[in-house]
Amino acid sequence: MTDTAGQTPTGANKPPQKPTDIMAEVVSLCRRRAFIFQSSEIYGGLNGCWDYGPMGVELKRNIKDAWWRDTVQRRDDIEGLDCSILMNRRVWEASGHVGGFADPMVDCTECKGRFRADQLETTQCPQKPSRNPGKSDKCKLTAPRSFNLMFRTFVGAMEDSTSEVFLRPETAQGIFANFQNVVSTSRVRVPFGIAQIGKAFRNEINPRNFTFRSREFEQMELEFFVRPEEAPKWFEYWKQERYNWYLKYGIDKSKLHLREQEEKERAHYAAGCADIEYDFPFGRAELEGIANRTDYDLKQHSKFSGKDLSYFDDEKKERYTPFVIEPSAGADRATLAFLVNAYAVEGERTVMHFHPSIAPVKAAVLPLVNKDGMPEMAEKLHKTLKKRWNIFYDDKGAVGRRYRRQDEAGTPWCITIDGETAASQMVTVRHRDAMNQDKISLDAVPAYLAERLDS
Ligand code: GAP
Repeated sequence: MTDTAGQTPTGANKPPQKPTDIMAEVVSLCRRRAFIFQSSEIYGGLNGCWDYGPMGVELKRNIKDAWWRDTVQRRDDIEGLDCSILMNRRVWEASGHVGGFADPMVDCTECKGRFRADQLETTQCPQKPSRNPGKSDKCKLTAPRSFNLMFRTFVGAMEDSTSEVFLRPETAQGIFANFQNVVSTSRVRVPFGIAQIGKAFRNEINPRNFTFRSREFEQMELEFFVRPEEAPKWFEYWKQERYNWYLKYGIDKSKLHLREQEEKERAHYAAGCADIEYDFPFGRAELEGIANRTDYDLKQHSKFSGKDLSYFDDEKKERYTPFVIEPSAGADRATLAFLVNAYAVEGERTVMHFHPSIAPVKAAVLPLVNKDGMPEMAEKLHKTLKKRWNIFYDDKGAVGRRYRRQDEAGTPWCITIDGETAASQMVTVRHRDAMNQDKISLDAVPAYLAERLDS
């Protein structure tokens, strides 16, 4: 018996295509197959905001679950946290976001376009023929000015500066603000980490490349606290761990890169920073950053809150402020990378080669025809499997077309009940990637899936 769905490298056998075509095709598939829709589409949308449809929500949830499982639940040295999005504005003064979380922006007084000054070379001007802003004789660009990316709102009825708060632009600061709470209420001892998944908001000047740069997105962040002298060792450790995590769930190694940032690219407090980058159809771009943030954040929050955020090592009888290694990933960017990476057109079929762990639907149950007791047997199997996994039941149309529909959704296995199942108690398992088929016993289907999914 062969199992190809779990082993074939994702994206194998893809015929060459132009990168721009691939991106347009992925965007179109996302809409058609209910992965991602434009936010508030019936009202013309909202730039930089996206909705995940029935397939997309499963995919993104599986990616976040995989991260949480591997980062928090399967380790003894990391605790989870879920902080509020709105926080005391002093948090953002301490972190430096109020003073410095800004991008340089230019306006064109001719076309009224607004652009990021540091991205003019890769941005299209709305004027026709379209060029980079500033490249046409008609363009009238202003001098760059600093634009703070934080969204503002007010708590309570008064809309004045005392009630102004921000939608968090990163989840990390909630972790630093809770450092002492976690240390004093759990058994963690340095080295240890605190992890969080949650929404972040940035008023990006130019949201673009589908969900890649959005105004509302989700982060998966880990702050790993270490002894200062051990920070370089842990920085190396987390770079490798995080790089391997993407490979584990099927990202093509040839498209995944670990790039050390140059000193001039790094935040002033960072002693080291590396990006994990993926070759998207629109170019190589950051999926995740891993930074050695030193003791900057804990010391800033100590200073601004007046609370001691140092750590006492009771074995060494020593007090110090830990350094922090931060792997900071975007759930939406990871989802986009997994979508692009999975996409392939193979002859007549379009197929999403998702790793089974992140595939939105794990298996489809199909009665070959709607008679002779086949639907009853298929429904019973569907009901049994549904208790553990997201399983789809499909009895509409020719079986070949049903296989194609599941290929496009990235379902690793189709289980078909045919005319012989009643007598033989055997079903056919069709594998998405190699399209080969196995016969297994009806009773063995739950164990068959469990073996391939519960790893
Ligand atoms: N706490 C560190 C931090 O927030 P960052 O590089 O600004 O670092 C971390 O963001 C990750 O969050 C990025 O690598 C990316 O995956 C994701 N991210 C940042 N801005 C984003 C945006 N506008 N849209 C989608 N994802 C974004």
